Amino acid sequence: MRFLITSALPYANGPKHIGHLAGAYLPADIFTRYAKAQGHDVAFVCGSDEHGAAITIQALKENTTPREIVDKYHELLKKCFIEFNIDFDIYHRTSDPIHHATAQEFFTNLNDKGIFQIDESEQYFDEEAKVFLADRYIKGTCPNCSYDSAYGDQCERCGKSLSPQELIEPRSTLSGKKPALKATKHWSLPLNKYEDFLQEWIVKDKKDKWRNTVYGQCKSWIDGGLQPRAVTRDLDWGVKVPLKEAEGKVLYVWFDAPIGYISATKAWAEQNNKNWKDYWCNKDTKLVHFIGKDNIVFHCIIFPVMLYAHGEFILPDNVPANEFLNLEGDKMSTSRGWSIEMHEFLEAFPEKTDELRYYLTAIAPETKDSDFTWKGFQTANKSELVDILGNFVNRIVMLTHKFYGGMVPVPALKMEAEILLDAEMRGQVEKVHKLLSQYKFREAQFELMNLARAGNKYLADAEPWKLIKTDEERTKTIMFAGLQVAAGLAKLMRYFLPKKAELLAKILNIDAGFILEPHHKINEAEYLFKPIEDELIDAQIQKLKQRVEEKKEALVREIETVEKPIKAEITIDDFNKIDLRVGTILEAKKVEKADKLLQLTIHLGSETRTILSGIAQHYSPEEVVGLQVTIVANLAPRKMRGIESYGMILMAEDANGKLVFVSPKDEVSNGSETR
Ligand code: MF3
Ligand code: ZN
Repeated sequence: MRFLITSALPYANGPKHIGHLAGAYLPADIFTRYAKAQGHDVAFVCGSDEHGAAITIQALKENTTPREIVDKYHELLKKCFIEFNIDFDIYHRTSDPIHHATAQEFFTNLNDKGIFQIDESEQYFDEEAKVFLADRYIKGTCPNCSYDSAYGDQCERCGKSLSPQELIEPRSTLSGKKPALKATKHWSLPLNKYEDFLQEWIVKDKKDKWRNTVYGQCKSWIDGGLQPRAVTRDLDWGVKVPLKEAEGKVLYVWFDAPIGYISATKAWAEQNNKNWKDYWCNKDTKLVHFIGKDNIVFHCIIFPVMLYAHGEFILPDNVPANEFLNLEGDKMSTSRGWSIEMHEFLEAFPEKTDELRYYLTAIAPETKDSDFTWKGFQTANKSELVDILGNFVNRIVMLTHKFYGGMVPVPALKMEAEILLDAEMRGQVEKVHKLLSQYKFREAQFELMNLARAGNKYLADAEPWKLIKTDEERTKTIMFAGLQVAAGLAKLMRYFLPKKAELLAKILNIDAGFILEPHHKINEAEYLFKPIEDELIDAQIQKLKQRVEEKKEALVREIETVEKPIKAEITIDDFNKIDLRVGTILEAKKVEKADKLLQLTIHLGSETRTILSGIAQHYSPEEVVGLQVTIVANLAPRKMRGIESYGMILMAEDANGKLVFVSPKDEVSNGSETR
């Protein structure tokens, strides 16, 4: 069989966290390793998604160019995947010229067939920045959950996908201003015309083939009725729309990114002397997309419609999307600081990549959201990997050295060994394979552990360390069978725990084939797994909490605070003694030989008076004329530099001595009282 396996192309706009790893990369890697081990012809492709507003926004934040952003994060992501042994055949990038050409050809193909609908529409335009705003550049209140910082394409709180016009009180993230609607022209994919196709292909056919969660989401989209989707954007970062009349427009990132799977396959095929069309245009190939649940509509509806409309491509055979992985009971979020980024884990536990792979698969959010906890990670490592898998392997290897000098014994009772193996191992290997073929990674790994459990029980029941004193022949049989179980574990571990599988293969001294023949010599025992110290785990929990606090503080710090004790309590009568009035500054001039003072003429409604104010180092006379300010109107007059001052102007002062007028927010009549 031939497989084309893809993992969602991550946006190269920042690091990616272990929830992404668990959702789209790890299961794809496990499946690929399994499919390759079965001898199938497999291409496993991925790469950086380098277009779209996510990238340009990050460039603005980091005060640099989109190019620098994608170069930086492409390298970071690629390196992380290598460290976690996510074995892509190619990790490509959508800024590559092959991709631009492929995406443009795809667009042209559909355009020539007259598939697009051209819409003049109104789009939000930032009049200050003079640009049309991509969905991500618009924030506002979510119509679904009232979250006040929802993006124009999606609410990050409730997950609902939105269009910018649905936002309540939209604002531009560039200028903070309310954007205006302005006419522009766009090419749209009329999804509504493909409802019949989708009914046939998904609703009727995929109910028992795809995960319930995936099928359910698709069905509700399709049943809810589909709208045309614009596939072009007014933006200057992306794949240029290959049409003269589309100056200044690029393909929408969700149009070009999935075509990135095709481009990546082309690039890989070129480098490996393969024909990319075997993988994309041959009905015998199974296309499988691994993604997180937020990407379902793009991979199950929009991209398939694109492929179908084009006509030369196969459609996905399955899209085993995952739900979300939470962290310590709360939604993972890089921006909030509540996340474990892949590179951070690698820095903290460079030797524990397989242990993380194990735990992420053990809690894989295949059917519902699940929760990563640091304690859970520590416990899974200790009570499963160390105590079950590691313990079994260690025991059997040590005993083999003790009894037979490291030589696999000849099973005296061959029949009995065979029966044992059939019961304990062959069935178990088949079970794991069957589950993997059904994309049930969590259960598959559980069955791998069950094989180790069975191995442990087998040794505990047979007690070869005692038996050897009374029945050497039977001991050989038991040890032989036990060693085959260890070999079986090494074989299955390759899919889930590639580094440890390699170590076990080294201990068992096997590389190809996984049967340990009698007389085969194995190597010394080595610990496969070690417990993780409490201190290391506690430090990670601390770090997480601290970072969230830091992020919160950083927010507060944006507006500086002054800490000064509040003065002694007064009564309302005390307060009422003060007559606070609003007035307008009519004139202002410097006071000779007093570099701090401005002499102000203030209109107070019924009168005009002179007030001296110590603001000359903060404001020039021209700046203040015309301002409405608040004054203490019944303060006893005071003479300074020979000039009488009738009152005092209220100013707010921060820790750095910066002075700002305390003025009414909207204009009021001069002489108005302040209470
Ligand atoms: N970059 C997208 C995300 O991180 C995924 C793109 S998948 C592709 O959500 F199919 F479009 F490539
Ligand atoms: Zn919402």
